[in-house]
This record gives sequence, structure tokens and C-alpha cells, in this order.
Amino acid sequence: MKLVHTNAELDQLVADAKAEGKRVALVPTMGALHEGHLRLVDIARENAEFVVVSIFVNPLQFGEGEDFDRYPRTLEADVEALEGHPCDVVFAPWVEEVYPPEGKPGKPTERAGIIGSTFEGAARPGHFDGMLTVVGRLFDLVKPDVAVFGQKDAQQLFMVRKLAGAKFEGLEIIAAPTVREPSGLAMSSRNRYLTPAQRESATVISKALRAVGFAANHGLPASYCIEAGLTLFAGEPETKLEYLAIVDSQLFKPVNDKFKGEALAIVAAQVGGVRLIDNQIIEIREQDA
Ligand code: PAF
Repeated sequence: MKLVHTNAELDQLVADAKAEGKRVALVPTMGALHEGHLRLVDIARENAEFVVVSIFVNPLQFGEGEDFDRYPRTLEADVEALEGHPCDVVFAPWVEEVYPPEGKPGKPTERAGIIGSTFEGAARPGHFDGMLTVVGRLFDLVKPDVAVFGQKDAQQLFMVRKLAGAKFEGLEIIAAPTVREPSGLAMSSRNRYLTPAQRESATVISKALRAVGFAANHGLPASYCIEAGLTLFAGEPETKLEYLAIVDSQLFKPVNDKFKGEALAIVAAQVGGVRLIDNQIIEIREQDA
């Protein structure tokens, strides 16, 4: 496994791999790797012979007052964690390599559109423009055949698929299932900010999603399913709910009560000031007889 910081070094390694006929996979990350990321790396290798993991905390996707400055930067530990996994290159670019010439991001060059201003985009204005800009840049630099993203960031995944479809012909986007702690809490680099009590409190997020899924399975209309999840939040005052919704997976727009079929239950909540998101694919069935 090689650690590189420049585009020139990366170019050489990717060109060599392609010359050997290898498919190249990219796993974009911001570091602070946990088991969920490592699973993305394993999935990447199942789909390609050469795996690049990028580690870059992208200033452009953090808003004012967000945690850019205190976002965990743990490159040494990340490289160590990747040692046991099928990663060929860790690409941890200097900021000037991503945003030349001076390492100043300037304005986003990608636009997330209307869906980019709902849910996560409403809570974090500009976040998706910044995220898409860096992802587009990483696709340009790595030139992957496959890129693997976590299902946990469902709205991000939705946007990235759109970007790839519009601008990166032939690039396959693979969604990796969310990895959870035994409590059900979805793994996230931000979980490390939580105290043990907050971690316990945060389990209401996945419990609420399960309640939504259970109600959907019994054929309840979407608004009733959401109600089932809201009830659980009501019993957990330490966790401040931002949204709990059911969206059509193809459109990322809320479904109405007539909707039947596969959908996505999505949630965002704050626990002790830490913003957590999660989601679950659900099936809203016909009403029980
Ligand atoms: O999901 C993330 O960690 C980031 O949004 C990504 C895709 C690496 C872009 O910075």
C-alpha cells in the first residue's frame, strides 16, 4: 500500500494499474476511518483489482460554524487501519492539489439543484455544492471505473449518482450498506464526539427507523409510519429531532399517503450538539386485511 500526496504520484500509480488491465476503484473519505469505511474498501476490491482510498477533509462542504476545524484528522491511524484491507493507494492530497493553485477552494463548480436544498441541504446550505465539487474533482484525478459510497449518506449518494450519470460516463457508483454498532447506531466519524450516555440516547435514531419500517410493512400510510417513529423521539428528550421523513428513493421527494412500494425513511437528529443522520430502505405494503 502506498501513501501519496500529489496528483503526479497518483497519476503514475493509476496509469500503471490501468496498463496492467486493472479496474480502478475509488473510495472517497474524509478520514477518521471506522469499520463502515473499511467495509467500503472491501466492497471496492470485490469490484475492482486496484483500490484507491482518498482522504481529504474538504473545506468547501462545511458551512460557517460547522466542525471543519475540529473535524478529526487522523492520517497515521487511518493508514494503519487500512493495512489490513485491500487498499493499494491512500491518496491524501495537499489542499493545493485539489484546489490549485493556492489551495483556496473559491466557489463550488458543481450545483446540487433543488433536491440539494432539502433535508441535509436545508440544514447545511451549500454543503452539497461543496461535496459534489470535490467528488467531481476526485473523479477527474483518480479516473476510477468504480466508486463506492456509503448508503448512510443517502442524499449524498443520490446526488453523486446524478453527477456521475451527467458527467462521468461509464463510471459505476456502488452503494455500500450502512455498518452499525451492536446498539443499532450507524457508524459515523462524528460518533466519537458522543459521551457514553449520548451514545445510548442516540440509539433512538435507528429504533425510530425500525418503527417506521415496521409500520410500513403493515401497510400503514406514510404519515402514520412517520408518526410511529416520532413517538419514540418524544420519549428521548436528549435527542433533538431535525427531520424524520419518507422519500421516494428515485426522486428523493416525500411520498404521500397513497404511496406503496419501496421508499427510504430518512432522519437527522442532534445529540449533545452532534448532528447524526441515518436512513433505512422500507417497503410500504398494501394495508393488512
Ligand atoms: O462522505 C464523505 O466523507 C464526504 O462527503 C466525501 C464523499 C468524501 C466528499 O468529501
